[in-house]
Amino acid sequence: MPIISLGEGNTPLIYSPRLSERVGHACEVFVKNEGVNPTGSFKDRGMTVDVSKAVERGTTALICASTGNTSASAAAYAARAGISCVVILPAGKIATGKLLQAFAYGAKIVAIDGNFDDALRIVRELGETGHFTIVNSINPDRIAGQKTAAFEVVDELGDAPDFHLLPVGNAGNITAYWVGYREYLAHETSTKLPAMIGFQAMGAAPIFHGRIIENPETIASAIRIGNPASWKQARAAIVESRGAIDIVSDEEILTAQKWLAQNEGIFVEPASAASIAGLFKWCDSADSARSFQKIREASRIVCTVTGHGLKDPDVILGRMTELKPIAASVMDVRRAIEL
Ligand code: F0G
Repeated sequence: MPIISLGEGNTPLIYSPRLSERVGHACEVFVKNEGVNPTGSFKDRGMTVDVSKAVERGTTALICASTGNTSASAAAYAARAGISCVVILPAGKIATGKLLQAFAYGAKIVAIDGNFDDALRIVRELGETGHFTIVNSINPDRIAGQKTAAFEVVDELGDAPDFHLLPVGNAGNITAYWVGYREYLAHETSTKLPAMIGFQAMGAAPIFHGRIIENPETIASAIRIGNPASWKQARAAIVESRGAIDIVSDEEILTAQKWLAQNEGIFVEPASAASIAGLFKWCDSADSARSFQKIREASRIVCTVTGHGLKDPDVILGRMTELKPIAASVMDVRRAIEL
């Protein structure tokens, strides 16, 4: 079988003393940083498997709908495989860095007047023509690749964590982690399963509300999804793991993004910060069903951060103050840094 790989996976699981302190109760918090994959997001784990399998079957063209990261990843792996790639995107809703990646890798890009859910509907239909392999997470090979993140967590910690927090959009990733954790338990590589806790953006929270959201809205464009493809599987993961689905506001997301960059040196895109925003929310919450205030002593918590901050610079750009040059002298620089 041909293996189409760019060296994805084996991402760092970073112990975070400050987040651990925030939770208290002698708990340990780890950040699984998926932003350091080849195209800057967790999508590469699934893409290496589904593009390899597609090439094995003789596929010459890929197609996907995307909020940005899937299209960047698909475009890169198609380039590596020497096949073509069509990406269908909601016009004006893709973060700058991700769109730039699709261009750079040479994908055929189509922007539609519609949202991600419209784009996925079109992709499903075009997939039926037999011209393309769909590389969205409705393709089971994507899930098979993404479950390896759960394997890595267990390999590194020596067992599954007690809680796993992650952002939820189309719900493929929470589905994949749950498959991975269950497989390791079945093979007796681990002795337990974590509670899976998914966070959706407040304005794009169909699973939380239990209904399709027609016009999802959030600053976290990667998870601006109103009708997730893996809705059922995500619900099953949450129920079976005795986990939860919760929501975080855009303000909470941006605060967490800034906090993680400035306190841990990990710069993630807004959607990724939903897991950290969720952790903070559960630290502060008095609602016993959604709170870490009475968490078991020495619990281990893993938060997945899904994509690199450089992909989505717009919010930070807006916050940057204009840099006025000063004279090139030590004296002027000393004054500027108040030394
Ligand atoms: N975080 C980021 C950075 C994402 O790009 C996505 C999904 C998610 C979280 C949510 O993961 O969909 O498996 O629940 N992005 C898809 C895309 C939809 O098209 O790039 P999920």
